[in-house]
Amino acid sequence: MPRGFFVTFEGLDGSGKSTQLRLLARALSAEGQAVTVTRQPGGTELGEHIRALLLDSRTQPVAPLTEMALMFADRAQSVEQVIAPALDRGEIVLCDRFTDSTVAYQGGGREIDREAILTLHRVLCRDLWPDLTFLLLPNLDVCLARARRRNARQLAFGTDENRFEAEQRSFYERVDRAYREIARQARNRVVTIDGDAPVEEIHRSILRTFSQRHQTAVTNALPHERP
Ligand code: TYD
Repeated sequence: MPRGFFVTFEGLDGSGKSTQLRLLARALSAEGQAVTVTRQPGGTELGEHIRALLLDSRTQPVAPLTEMALMFADRAQSVEQVIAPALDRGEIVLCDRFTDSTVAYQGGGREIDREAILTLHRVLCRDLWPDLTFLLLPNLDVCLARARRRNARQLAFGTDENRFEAEQRSFYERVDRAYREIARQARNRVVTIDGDAPVEEIHRSILRTFSQRHQTAVTNALPHERP
């Protein structure tokens, strides 16, 4: 059975992950590879409704467990409708955020039990994990300043995705710590990109790592020759 290659991008709001995802998608499409690009929350019709509910700063209050349940409702739909079918077709899937975001934001930020999150992942997402995750970790203040500028721009265009932006700095410090912990625990899967190198430089490094890992996966999936 063909099996595609599942890649996720993770990091704080304003970490530059979405820009890097777009650049990688463009490079792979230019090589003629079949690529599916999606995001969480969002990426399906149901998911975009959930996203609007979750991120709008006028949706108040949202209890932490409700927030987690909605993130997983979105993700379960995305796995069924978009990710698993694309992988079954043998495609490369690039997803902007996945369960690591829930472990970092709801687990770290909101201090929900990590085991509960992983249990939900097993049940609702068929325990599907990415083959490779790029975790962008620029300086926390750089991220927050970028995210605030972007949110102000979006507000001017009538899009309100500011609910998380209202959080205190201490919330983002906990999210940042949780991300670093994920990277320590999943060394084989998670590749961290530290610091504030120029966008092009980060892109080249991501493309190099992607190509190596993808090639290894393809080689390992080939039927072995009999001696
Ligand atoms: P995203 O659109 O990726 O925001 P940004 O482009 O600013 O990085 O994600 C929206 C917000 O949702 C972001 O603040 C992180 C949050 N989030 C969670 O708290 N838990 C999750 O499981 C996911 C997927 C996102």
